[in-house]
Amino acid sequence: MDTKTDLEDYVAVSRDEFIVGTQVPVDIFLKLSESKYVMILKEGSIVRFDQMHFPEKAEWLYVRKSDYHKCVGQTLTVAGIVLDSDKISQEKKTVFLSKAADSIFKEIEHLGFDHQALEHSKIVSKSIQNLVENKPDIAAVIAMMSNLNDDLIRHSMMVSATSVIIARSMKWTLAQNLEKLALGALLHDVGMKELPDEILEMPRHAMSRDQAAIYESHVYRGVEILRSMPSISDDIIAIVLEHHENAPGQGYPRRLRDIKINPFARVVALADCFSEIVMESPNNPHPKTAPAALQFIEIALGQPFHKPAFAALKQALQGPPR
Ligand SMILES: [Fe+2]
Ligand SMILES: [Fe+2]
Repeated sequence: MDTKTDLEDYVAVSRDEFIVGTQVPVDIFLKLSESKYVMILKEGSIVRFDQMHFPEKAEWLYVRKSDYHKCVGQTLTVAGIVLDSDKISQEKKTVFLSKAADSIFKEIEHLGFDHQALEHSKIVSKSIQNLVENKPDIAAVIAMMSNLNDDLIRHSMMVSATSVIIARSMKWTLAQNLEKLALGALLHDVGMKELPDEILEMPRHAMSRDQAAIYESHVYRGVEILRSMPSISDDIIAIVLEHHENAPGQGYPRRLRDIKINPFARVVALADCFSEIVMESPNNPHPKTAPAALQFIEIALGQPFHKPAFAALKQALQGPPR
């Protein structure tokens, strides 16, 4: 019997993800108690839940955290839908994106960003919308994001706009880089689409350890969705994988320190956090003002983001330091 005591080593995966008669890509465990896991299927063996002594109620199975990325590609619904992207009309793919952009820019104008940085972000957003129009695979992914969850597309658009404002304020000028950043930020949470509603609707602080592990799996799920798409560059994959890492190395999934984090992902990580604090959502019914959000990141969170990015965000909101 293979049992372990380190809870950090395992990630919960829904039993439904393993289809009877198919091969499992990794070792699969059953949770016996808070500290005991038993291996029930070895990598490569065929799923036979029907013929096993298997508790009917065991909704969740477990895989090693280090194996998890091998597992998520199996049952992604979005990836399948994207392959079938002809089913989503071209009109639907793009109209909602420009609508979402218009409403987000209206909202962020009130935050008090530097006028020039904001205008630049609008220009980059327009070119992203044009790019999406010409890339059916990306358009289909974004259409799916917006179809299932309005808040997700608003959040993604806000993170995209804020990332460009931060990068401009850091003196990034190359259009190619700004566009890559904007697109990666737009797609950073695409893996959320694969999570059950019960997890999406739950505040983070109310989640159990298992639920938090499922929530955190959105980064690997996002990578799996985008990995096979021809229009997606390595930097965009890195943004998706590393947008929850932070400078002291306390983020997830790999606890990378600042120096190891992709430069685009460092900017998106800060934009993501800032956007969550200033935007109203079911998880944040009382959003903070921009100055209060800066203070919250600095004092309550201990400013865990890339220092130049945080200084640039501050400057875009308050002007150059006096
Ligand atoms: Fe995320
Ligand atoms: Fe996010």
